[in-house]
Amino acid sequence: MKKPIIISHPLVKRDLTILRDKNTSSPTFRAVLRRTASLMAYAVTEDLILRKKKIVTPLEKTIGYEVVEQTILVPILRAGLGLVGGFVEVLPNARVGHIGMYRDEETLKPVDYYLKLPKILKEALVLILDPMLATGGSAASAVTVLKEKGARKIRFVSLVASPEGVRILSKAHPDVRIYTCALDRKLNNRGYILPGLGDAGDRIFGTGE
Ligand code: PRP
Ligand code: URA
Repeated sequence: MKKPIIISHPLVKRDLTILRDKNTSSPTFRAVLRRTASLMAYAVTEDLILRKKKIVTPLEKTIGYEVVEQTILVPILRAGLGLVGGFVEVLPNARVGHIGMYRDEETLKPVDYYLKLPKILKEALVLILDPMLATGGSAASAVTVLKEKGARKIRFVSLVASPEGVRILSKAHPDVRIYTCALDRKLNNRGYILPGLGDAGDRIFGTGE
């Protein structure tokens, strides 16, 4: 199994603990997830391509930098939406595509229901956002769709991953870097990550009860 890149900053560990806690309310979950996403964005873009830029400070001329690499965020609906705000905060010029996909509760296979992507996929750094990498079915299918549409530089960004999901995604798409804040123990027999954080979409949107 190709190793995922683990984002292990202390502030991420603190936030992930809040997100895992079953007593964390939906409004707090949403706010903390957004904050965590900004922290994750730093790790995922550490090699972003810059260009030197001449500027003038109030005191003298100097050289600064501007980002030249176009970034496209692609959240997998619904739960991926919870990560978009935090990424956009640090990548204000990012374009956002959407992939609608849910997991059939019986078969655990992904079912597609929506797709809207920017046209410039080929030249861009494409970041697929989804808090949960469980069986890996949704992730592998999203990467396949993006490659079919022309994306070449794709990274998969998750909050929590299972060993099974990492194995499936890296086998299907060895060129895609996988980022996660935690590689958890395993999946249970309903395809939920252990210890995990439960159903991410339900916790973000308050649809669990
Ligand atoms: C969750 C999660 C992933 C998927 C992961 O979405 O956000 O998209 O499950 O599971 P997999 O790795 O086994 O494919 P879900 O299907 O619950 O839909 P939702 O985001 O609309 O709640
Ligand atoms: N989807 C979730 O939201 N949580 C899991 O643990 C697995 C899939």
